[in-house]
Amino acid sequence: MCGIVGYVGPLRADEVVLEGLRRLEYRGYDSAGIAVVSDGTLACVKKAGKLINLESALAQESLPSAHTGIGHTRWATHGAPNDRNAHPHLTQENSIAVVHNGIIENFARLRHELEEAGYEFASETDTEVVAHLLDSIYDPALGLAEAMRQACRRLDGAFTLVAIHANEPGVVVGARRNSPLVVGRGEGENFLGSDVAAFIGYTRNAIEMGQDQVVELHPDSIEVTNFDGSIAPINEYYVSWDAEAAEKGGFEHFMLKEIAEQPQAVSDTLLGRINDEGSLVLDEMRLSDDELRSIDKIVLIACGTAYHAGMIAKYAIEHWTRIPCEIELASEFRYRDPILTRDTLVIAISQSGETMDTLMALRHAREQGARVLAVCNVNGSTIPRESDAVVYTHAGPEIAVASTKAFLTQVVAVHLVALYLAQVRGTKWGDEIRHHIDQLASMPSKIESLLETMEPVRELAKSLVDAQAVLFIGRHVGYPVALEGALKLKELAYMHAEGFAAGELKHGPIALLEQGLPVVAIVPSPQGRSVLHDKVISNIQEVRARGARMIIIAEEGDSEVVPFADVLITIPAVPTLMQPILAAVPLQVFACALATAKGFDVDQPRNLAKSVTVE
Ligand code: M6R
Repeated sequence: MCGIVGYVGPLRADEVVLEGLRRLEYRGYDSAGIAVVSDGTLACVKKAGKLINLESALAQESLPSAHTGIGHTRWATHGAPNDRNAHPHLTQENSIAVVHNGIIENFARLRHELEEAGYEFASETDTEVVAHLLDSIYDPALGLAEAMRQACRRLDGAFTLVAIHANEPGVVVGARRNSPLVVGRGEGENFLGSDVAAFIGYTRNAIEMGQDQVVELHPDSIEVTNFDGSIAPINEYYVSWDAEAAEKGGFEHFMLKEIAEQPQAVSDTLLGRINDEGSLVLDEMRLSDDELRSIDKIVLIACGTAYHAGMIAKYAIEHWTRIPCEIELASEFRYRDPILTRDTLVIAISQSGETMDTLMALRHAREQGARVLAVCNVNGSTIPRESDAVVYTHAGPEIAVASTKAFLTQVVAVHLVALYLAQVRGTKWGDEIRHHIDQLASMPSKIESLLETMEPVRELAKSLVDAQAVLFIGRHVGYPVALEGALKLKELAYMHAEGFAAGELKHGPIALLEQGLPVVAIVPSPQGRSVLHDKVISNIQEVRARGARMIIIAEEGDSEVVPFADVLITIPAVPTLMQPILAAVPLQVFACALATAKGFDVDQPRNLAKSVTVE
């Protein structure tokens, strides 16, 4: 979703800001702009479309050499993605420039009030309201930061705002409520960004912005205050990854790089989880053993791919701990008045830690007295900050919009949570837990060897470039994998793709089947739970009988599936509960290759944002 950059320091602001915007491109956007302040005047260039359009505009109408600037990539909410609605928004006299991420819910009322006072609006955005509101409040004796605090007290909704004033060169002011904003502390220069990627090329020292806070940046100072003007403490941290991690590193797309990084990401997520006594430790688990023993229900909340990881978590948690577990889309959760008590543990899964639906759901859960554990990839992001406990996945930055390594590490992390609960509550013996951890520890090498066998999957994808639809079926943990395979194909290849619980097919979706329709089946391990395996084989027969083209993902050595496969993709043998960690990989490669064959932008699919910071 919208990307924001702010800079104040000795360098050319437009160049630093443009570089930051490039690094934030992955968030998804449809227009972009930059404003700088120099010699008491503001200059601004903004353009609909991708950054290349902004760069061409800058080549024609270059900005003055200035050392204070802000920039924005906009993902449209209020108003079409055109030049006029692009950010920054300026006041009539070009005194203030503002960029914004989020939604100002009371913008219509404020706009009416400001129009009554004589302000003329140039766009349809809610953001422009803030520019005029700041202008109406601004007092040179009190400065822009004070105007921002006063303005924010009048705003409803979710927002990150960053502003500059023509009279205040050397000052950038930011504000945050329910929307992400991070400060980068440099030497003689300071930065603002929607996330640390915006300034990671300059500094790895970051400061978390709390809820309802305003920050005032000068080249040599950073002051954080609450909306009421009181000084807020500064929470500084060091970013564990560097600019190189946020580059493509020789891969054609970020998605390809991130798929390839999965063995390392899984390995990093498992690192340091066993102590000297051989017990499982989750360092960031701030809930006591007594609290964990008192839990009588678990509710998992998440969106999109993270929701699929949550579906897998339900199987693992219930199997190993016998605690009843529900999984719910975060966007639906709070609107059905869920039954939550002090003994409910809510697990919020989010790669970015900023997804608004998940954040609002977790806040609702805490208001009802439930305890919340976050499973998150981004250190210091809002969801873990507002949770009672956190287990971090250590996937490193995920830039491509389509989630890959985050998904695998989320599945690993929720397995760790399930095993930890089993350890604390005594539902599994220590050696059983270590056995499962050993199996998880074998995943990186299995993913690595699986990745080496993906050429036939890429060939298959190319052969399906003209397919109208692809269906995916699976049972048990294979069902969320089927949903994930379909989601990847929808978001990347813009194709009709559906995932079904294999047994549910005959209750309706089977009517979709016709000659040659590609159907991907995820077949569970034939070991142990062979009933499940046999049931999926029966479902495959039903599909084949109707002329569909059967693409089967099955365990190496599963000879039973061979006669039924038009295309067979094999994955290493692992217990059923862990199979999603492998079965998802060919589906990622498949969707990426199919989208590439269709000539689509794999890293930034249309209409999508990496982190969805509005409800
Ligand atoms: O950052 P989050 O994990 O909270 O994001 C949730 C979804 O928006 C995300 O998983 C989305 O579905 C992915 N683009 C799918 O690839």
